[in-house]
Amino acid sequence: MERTFIMIKPDGVQRGLIGDIVSRFEHRGLKLVGAKLLQVDKELAEKHYAEHRERPFFGELVSFITSSPVFAMVWEGANAVSIARSMMGKTNPVDSLPGTIRGDYGISVGMNLIHGSDSTESAAREIALWFNSSELTSYEHTI
Ligand code: CMP
Repeated sequence: MERTFIMIKPDGVQRGLIGDIVSRFEHRGLKLVGAKLLQVDKELAEKHYAEHRERPFFGELVSFITSSPVFAMVWEGANAVSIARSMMGKTNPVDSLPGTIRGDYGISVGMNLIHGSDSTESAAREIALWFNSSELTSYEHTI
């Protein structure tokens, strides 16, 4: 079963969108196996976004993600990575379709509400970076 790392960014937390976003993933049928609200430090932010280190917006990105708490989650289900990505919508709000999280709530590429792993390899790296194994659960849906 596939797992993906999802983070609601400071703008999503401050705008009161945690409940709506969690609800969307629940209703779609993905299973929440880990979650926490945390203040990210510079070290974690830089490791998380290491692939963007050379991009001109890297400093802005790290500064935004460390500016106030984020809500980090791990969701599980068949094709969880690609399903979550399609629910989030495109990174650039110009391309984010209505019905997606970014398409419904965002107009900024920087403050784009949510991050989701872009591949199963990224998901494995990001889950290990953000969560201890003791913070993750494993259970079956029985009802
Ligand atoms: P995310 O999916 O978290 O991964 C990298 C992030 O970089 C992306 O979402 C955007 O929020 C951010 N990003 C991409 N392009 C720009 C840009 N031109 N200016 C600021 N932030 C950007």
